[in-house]
Parts: sequence; C-alpha cells; structure tokens
Amino acid sequence: MSALNPYRPGLFVSLEGIDGAGKSTQLQTVVGVLQAAHRQVLLTREPGGTEIGEKIRELLLHQSMRAATEALLMFAARQEHVLCVIEPALLGGTDVVCDRFTAATLAYQGGGKGIPVERLQALARWVHPGLCPDCIFLIDVPPEVAAQRLAQTRRRDRFEQESVDFFARVRANYLQQAAGAPEKWCVIDGTQAPSEVQKDITNHLNKVLQEFDAK
Ligand SMILES: Nc1ncnc2c1ncn2[C@@H]1O[C@H](COP(=O)(O)OP(=O)(O)O)[C@@H](O)[C@H]1O
Ligand SMILES: [Mg+2]
Repeated sequence: MSALNPYRPGLFVSLEGIDGAGKSTQLQTVVGVLQAAHRQVLLTREPGGTEIGEKIRELLLHQSMRAATEALLMFAARQEHVLCVIEPALLGGTDVVCDRFTAATLAYQGGGKGIPVERLQALARWVHPGLCPDCIFLIDVPPEVAAQRLAQTRRRDRFEQESVDFFARVRANYLQQAAGAPEKWCVIDGTQAPSEVQKDITNHLNKVLQEFDAK
C-alpha cells in the first residue's frame, strides 16, 4: 500500500489556484499525461461531481450566504463526492483528477473569509479521513493577473466577483499550504504561456507517476 495514499492503485491529483489561474485550461493536460501512461482516468470537480453536489454548487456559486454556511455546504457536497465517486474510483484502480479539493476550502473559506482552520480541518477529518490527493498542482498567479483574465471572459460567479484583496489572501493561504507539504504540492508559475504551464505540469506528473509505480 502506498505511503502517500491508502487508496492505491488509483492516483489522486487535484488542481488548485485562484479563479482565473488556469485550472480548467490545464485539466486536460493532467488527463492527457495519465492516459498516455495507459491509465484509466476520471475527471471531476468541486464543488460538484455528483447530482447533489452539482445542486449545492449552484447554490454556492449564485446564492449569497454566510461564510460558515458556505464552508458547511462545501463539505456536504464533498461528502457525497468522496463516498460516491472518488473513493470507489481510486479503489477500483482509476486515477481521479479533480478541479479543486479540500485545499480550496482551506484557502477560500479559511484564508479568504476567516473561518478558523481547525474547524475546517475537523470537517475534513470527518468527511474524508485518511484521504488526501497524491499530487496537488497549485497554478499560481497574482490576483491582478487573474482579474484581468476574468474581466475579458465569461460572466462571473459569486466567488469570481470577490476583490483583489480577497484573492491575495486566498493565494497566500495556498502558498502556505504548499510550503507546508512540498512532497505533495507542485507550485506552477501560471503567468507563463499556456504551453509552458503545460510543460511544467507534464514534467512533474511524469515524475510523480514514476515514484507511484515504483512503490
Ligand atoms: N497561461 C495562461 N495565460 C493566459 N491566459 C490564460 C492562461 N491559462 C488560462 N488562461 C485564460 O484565462 C481564463 C481563465 O482560465 P481558466 O482555466 O478558466 O481558470 P480557472 O479554471 O483557474 O478559473 C480563460 O479565459 C483562459 O483562456
Ligand atoms: Mg475553472
């Protein structure tokens, strides 16, 4: 059994970063690397990934609410997602690639909105004891860069409308999490051209795969 992940043989990869960092753009990069290694891959996202989870996502993205309610709904959606989708896939040998996981709740509701981290960690221990991604990519960009990208694109949801200050706190929290567990996190410079971001992700993930297969 892997020291990284009790759910071996599936590899669990998540992508993190502030809104506009380029996560959705790079999800296919991660999937492509895994598929090129002849692995089964499940692509999913948080909040969401299940029928209930997608309904909770709609509420979270479009309905205003208190920060504590937001945190609890995130974990409610995550409970369904872990039990119905993520764990069965990993146990069955399928790799899971997830657009955000618990690190995002720590960064947004903790770092961004001031919910005490111990409360969020207690919920994480309840909802997914022993489960943590094997590899977490943090696509890191300054909030000003992300804001500029989002301004040029789609209509923005509730989170995407937050201030530059808010995203600066979220980013700082992400970087702190990454510094605290460098064996799991890979910080990518998201201000590079998409092809360079893709190269960095590909190189790191191939190394992770080598280590994972060697265990
Ligand atoms: N490396 C990049 N350089 C410039 N623009 C990018 C880059 N990556 C993504 N974008 C653009 O920025 C916007 C937000 O990207 P997206 O992948 O949706 O971010 P996220 O999922 O992290 O919110 C999109 O319009 C996307 O085309
Ligand atoms: Mg996205």
